[in-house]
Amino acid sequence: MKQRTFAMIKPDAVSAGYTGQIIELIERNGFAILDMYKTTLSKQAVEVFYAVHKERSFFGEMVDFVISGPVILLALEKENAIADWRTLIGATDPVKASVGTIRKQYGKNVGSNAVHGSDASETAEQELRLFFPN
Ligand code: RTP
Ligand code: MG
Repeated sequence: MKQRTFAMIKPDAVSAGYTGQIIELIERNGFAILDMYKTTLSKQAVEVFYAVHKERSFFGEMVDFVISGPVILLALEKENAIADWRTLIGATDPVKASVGTIRKQYGKNVGSNAVHGSDASETAEQELRLFFPN
């Protein structure tokens, strides 16, 4: 069954000029882009988005990074989209990510790791609702 997930190209990858290459990988791997836009997120939106991490020591840094410049937000669809997108992006830390993954190719470090992907169906629905309310 087709499934939807939420993806973000983070400020490090956008400012480095990797947007086109990452979108090409998205399409080449069979994801349909249902909707997409470029924006700079507000602190309030990111605090809601990353609310599950609010007790973590790096929360402030993580929020400041995500609002530091433009991001690309995407609604993606394919069979098994949530798990397949997580597989394509790779481990959180680019050093630990497998060869061929987006984070391996385009991530700088655990903070500046190029992309985001929803981790479960509940979070995918929440994140899509937050950033694609229509
Ligand atoms: P994301 O939500 O961005 O797709 O990343 P993820 O699921 O792979 O990792 P998650 O555990 O949800 O962490 C969210 C973001 O927090 C930053 N992080 N920093 N300094 C650290 O040890 C550390 N650990 C995680 C990362 O930028 C990660 O994307
Ligand atoms: Mg996560």
